[in-house]
Amino acid sequence: MSNNRVSRRQFLSYTIMGVGGFMASSMLMPMVRFAVDPVLQVSADGDYVVTDQLASELSEVPIRVSFTYTQEDAWYTSEVTNDAWVYLEGEEIVALSPVCKHLGCTVTWEGSADFPEQFFCPCHAGRYYKNGENVAGTPPLGPLDQFLVEVRDGYVALGPLRPNFLVS
Ligand code: FES
Repeated sequence: MSNNRVSRRQFLSYTIMGVGGFMASSMLMPMVRFAVDPVLQVSADGDYVVTDQLASELSEVPIRVSFTYTQEDAWYTSEVTNDAWVYLEGEEIVALSPVCKHLGCTVTWEGSADFPEQFFCPCHAGRYYKNGENVAGTPPLGPLDQFLVEVRDGYVALGPLRPNFLVS
């Protein structure tokens, strides 16, 4: 006979620890899964969205191009519609973000009759040149961001947003 017998007290404490551990892990696993789920999702960064805008119809005058994409925001999936200001610069297609770099209002090409050939932000009279460069002396402190652009089957496809690479 062995002297390593488990006492009634030890048996009870092992049982309570086992059951308690099982219950705790049952509660914690969903929380851990909930917290790390966004990390496990495949990133959409790098994807291009094909718009309804024919590249052949672009000119040197910026036009607003709307596009819709599926956004994975943490554990929610939603359809998001966004805009870009798109125009031709020589042979190159330029697509600028409409989001003002001051406080995030939406800029409009020639939005003010006083400032033709510029993007205008109505919130605090921010202004940008056609290449997205902010006009000195107006509230925005940086140029409009710029989309990567491709042409797919004749249509403008917009990629990830990058810091403006037209403005040096
Ligand atoms: S948000 Fe555009 S100028 Fe202030």
